[in-house]
This record gives sequence, structure tokens and C-alpha cells, in this order.
Amino acid sequence: MYTALYRKFRPKFFSEVKGQETVITTLKNQIKSDRIGHAYLFCGTRGTGKTSVAKIFAKAVNCENPKDGEPCGECRICKAIADGSSMNVVEMDAASNNGVDAIRQIRDDVGYTPPEGRFTVYIVDEAHMLTDQAFNALLKTLEEPPSHVIFILATTEARKILDTILSRCQRYDFRRIEPDVIAGHLMELLKIEGVSAEDKAVDYIARMADGSMRDALSLLDQAIAFYLGQELTYDRVLSALGGVDTELFSRLYAAILEENIKDALEVVNEAMMSGRDLSLFVSDFCWYLRNLLLAKNVGDLTGLVDLSSQDMEILQDQAKQSSANALMRYIEICSELSSSLRFSAQKRILTEVAMIRLMKSESDTDLTALLERMDKMEAKLEKGIPVRQAETVVNVVPVQENKPSEKKKIVLPAVSEDIKELKRVWPELVESLDIGKMVRAVIKEPIQSPKKEDTICFIVENNIGYDTLSDEKLLDEMKTACEERIGKKIQIEIVNKLSAGKEEIDLLEAMKEKINMEITEEE
Ligand SMILES: Nc1ncnc2c1ncn2[C@@H]1O[C@H](COP(=O)(O)OP(=O)(O)OP(=O)(O)O)[C@@H](O)[C@H]1O
Ligand SMILES: [Mg+2]
Ligand SMILES: [Zn+2]
Repeated sequence: MYTALYRKFRPKFFSEVKGQETVITTLKNQIKSDRIGHAYLFCGTRGTGKTSVAKIFAKAVNCENPKDGEPCGECRICKAIADGSSMNVVEMDAASNNGVDAIRQIRDDVGYTPPEGRFTVYIVDEAHMLTDQAFNALLKTLEEPPSHVIFILATTEARKILDTILSRCQRYDFRRIEPDVIAGHLMELLKIEGVSAEDKAVDYIARMADGSMRDALSLLDQAIAFYLGQELTYDRVLSALGGVDTELFSRLYAAILEENIKDALEVVNEAMMSGRDLSLFVSDFCWYLRNLLLAKNVGDLTGLVDLSSQDMEILQDQAKQSSANALMRYIEICSELSSSLRFSAQKRILTEVAMIRLMKSESDTDLTALLERMDKMEAKLEKGIPVRQAETVVNVVPVQENKPSEKKKIVLPAVSEDIKELKRVWPELVESLDIGKMVRAVIKEPIQSPKKEDTICFIVENNIGYDTLSDEKLLDEMKTACEERIGKKIQIEIVNKLSAGKEEIDLLEAMKEKINMEITEEE
């Protein structure tokens, strides 16, 4: 029978846990110096080792021959804990509906000393799912834990844990695991399993896992199962894990490049006929355009764009034929389309109109469209193609008033200490949020609003960024994290570069500089 990798390779010793050095060192030191606490809170993203470490800890504190803080793995107690038959470990899942009952049971049981070993370790998984009642019942127990009892609460959402519980627990934060640490681990396991794999394939999986070792192992499982008995190549992994099929998009883009409306609409039709959701189709196409733009501007795309080598060739080729200005305009149109599709019953028509707009830059009079036309003309001129009497484009381009910039004197407000504090701890704070890579990249710089001291702003480049960050749940999560840090209410504002005035952006940029300068000066 095939056992899933993440079950087969559950770490049995502290030394086998990857990427959680701080946590492990502290726990081992406690065991070595016999200063064991009675209540622990393990927080962190899914699949980073919380439950595994809790079990190893339970073994180590009960083991008959512990070595250097590690359990021996061979004594009766270690073995019993490993096979789940030990009375020294009681596991409960707070997400199951009998949370209250289970906690009550714990409360009744904690009085008894374990029949063997020193401690009974209660592992409460998904602790944030405990109901208020269950929390209160648990709190009673935490207030006076008998000396032979250890509680380990594990959660992916520390923010949902009551303060009263938090203050009684030692808190350990499990970090997202770095892609290269994950990749290293996967390589080791593949060797043990006798599966050969390309580095690039493994790196891709490690990146997709976004910090979670369990996700990495499940992805690896899927890829192995798909190509059983064959080498894991990058292309195979991509196709097994369903990297978006780019064939449709490269065809659509080819049609756009040729300004062939019929072909473009044909692709849209095909997508619909094959049962694709048009909103998804359009947002995936946005990604395709984004990849093109990157291909145009960045030499080495490793890690930025995941495509099979064949698709990558097509992408590079299409990028060569496009201008950056055009691509930016396409992305803008498509992201606009993507947000209007969400609320529209006329998805098909809207999509078709947008496709036509993409190809008819002549009908657009905004600056980007004009720039794009200039680009096209230049390209034609270079190739020696006569430019069709180009509607005197040059005259239409608004002439930038190039007065020697008489900089308006603006008085920026003082930078608040709270914002400085936030700015200092920002990388760490962002790390603690359960958010995707994209979002992480966009919120890398909190800026104090030039108008309101209690507001932080994030500048986003376009509508995609704006939509992504305007998610209420996400904003709430960020707000709570900030407020917890500085102990004060705070507002968050997302400023879209496309719709904000130049003055507003300049002011924000100036504010950003000021914050950075003051912080550097203090250091
Ligand atoms: N730090 C790690 N080092 C090595 N393997 C790990 C690590 N974290 C997770 N794994 C792998 O993932 C599996 C699941 O890990 P574990 O159950 O400990 O995660 P968790 O943090 O408790 O996740 P969840 O939040 O979903 O409960 C383990 O069996 C192991 O194979
Ligand atoms: Mg767990
Ligand atoms: Zn032992």
C-alpha cells in the first residue's frame, strides 16, 4: 500500500525538523535544564511542524534515556507514543464538534498522575476553533495545572486565541519554511524513495508550497503518482500539477498581435465552450500578460515565471514582438475587465468588447494608447515600412510642461513613533500573516498617511493590486496585527497609482522617504 509522503516522513526527532531552529533550540534547552513549562502555544502556518514537534516534545519529556534533549526513540514510552498507544499523550482536535466535552474530560482527568512516565501531555490541535465555553473550561485548568500536566495548544491563527489563554502560555512561532530548505528536504526524501528528479522540478514544488512542508510533500506525491516510475522533470511536474494551460493564451495573444479580431473571439468562444469560467479565464490571461511583461524586462525568469521549456520559448518570442507600453495597457484593460466581470451577467459581451479594445488602440485616446501607437510607428520605421499618414500623432501627445521644477514647498507632518515601530518590525509582522506571496510583495512598505497620523497607506501600481489588497478579511487581519503590536487603533488605506492624483503619490513618496530617513538616523 502506498503511504502518503507526509505521513511516512513525520519527523521523529528534533534533529529531523527543518527550518524551525529557534523553536527547537529553546525547547531542547528547557528539557536539558529540566525547566519544563506547563502550557505552550505553538502558532504558525499549516504544515510547518507544530503537531510533529508537540509529539517529539511529549516523547522527550517522558523518555527513559533522553540524550541531549532528544528522545531515545527506543524505550517503552517513546515507542508507545510513536504508535499512539501511550497514556502519556492525549490528542484532541478542537475543530471536531465535541470540543467542550473533550475539554471537560481533560479537566476531570488532569488530577490523575500518569501510570508511567512523568507527564501527561495534552495536545489541542486547531486551538483557535475552541468555542468560548471550551476556552473557559480550558482556562480553569490552565490556571492551576498539576505538576504532571503539560498543555500544548497548536493553532494556525494565534490572533483568535483569547488573551487570557495567551498570557498563560509560552508562545512559539513556527515560521514558514524557506523554499531552499524545503527543496533540500524533498531531495533527501526522493533519494530515500529512489526517485530521480531535476533540481528545477523540485525547486518549483518547493516554491508552490509557499512555506508549508506538508503542502510540498503532497504536491510531490501528486507529481510522483502522475508519472510513476519515471524521472521527475520540470515539464512533467508542471503538467502534473496543472500549471495553467498556456496554449489557449498564447493563441489569443498571437491573434492580438496580428490584430486578428476573428481569431481572438474564436479563442474566447472556445474557452466558453470548454466550460471555462470567463472571469477565471480573463484573470489567468492577465497573468499571461504579466509574464510577457516580465519576459520583456527581466533577463532571467527563473522563479518568476513557471512554464515548460516549450511554452517559455513561445512566451519569449511573443515578448520580443510586443512593446512594454502595449502590454501595460493590455494588463490594465484586462484587469478592469476582470473586476467588472464579477458583477456582470454579460460576461461574454464584455469580454469580446475588451478584446476588440485591445486590438484597436487607435480608438483610445489616452496617453498609454498614444504611446503604444508611437511604439508601433517606430517599429515600422525601423523595418522601413512607410508609416500610413499617422494622423499627426506627434501633435496630439500632450507636451509635458517642462518648467524647471519649482518644487512646491510642502510641510510634511511628523512621523509618529507608532509608525516607526511598525516599520521596524514590518518584515516580521508580515511574516506572521497568513497571506500569499503576491500580497506579501505588495505590502512591503507601510507609509504613514500625510493627512492622518493613525492611518497607514500602501501604494499599489494598478487595479489588480488594488483589488487584491482591498479584501476585507485581509485588511482586518493586517489591522489586527498592527494594532496588537502598537496597542492602538489604526486605519489602512490602499492608494491606487492609476486613480490617485500625482500630487497625492508624490506626497506619499516624500513621506516614505522621511520615515526611512528618521529610522536610519536613529540607528
Ligand atoms: N519543519 C518540518 N520539517 C520536516 N517535515 C515537516 C515539517 N513540518 C511539516 N513537516 C511534514 O508535514 C507533515 C505534517 O506536519 P505537522 O502535522 O507537524 O504540521 P502542523 O504544523 O501541525 O500542520 P497543521 O497546522 O495543518 O496542523 C509531517 O508529517 C512532515 O512530513
Ligand atoms: Mg497540526
Ligand atoms: Zn525514549
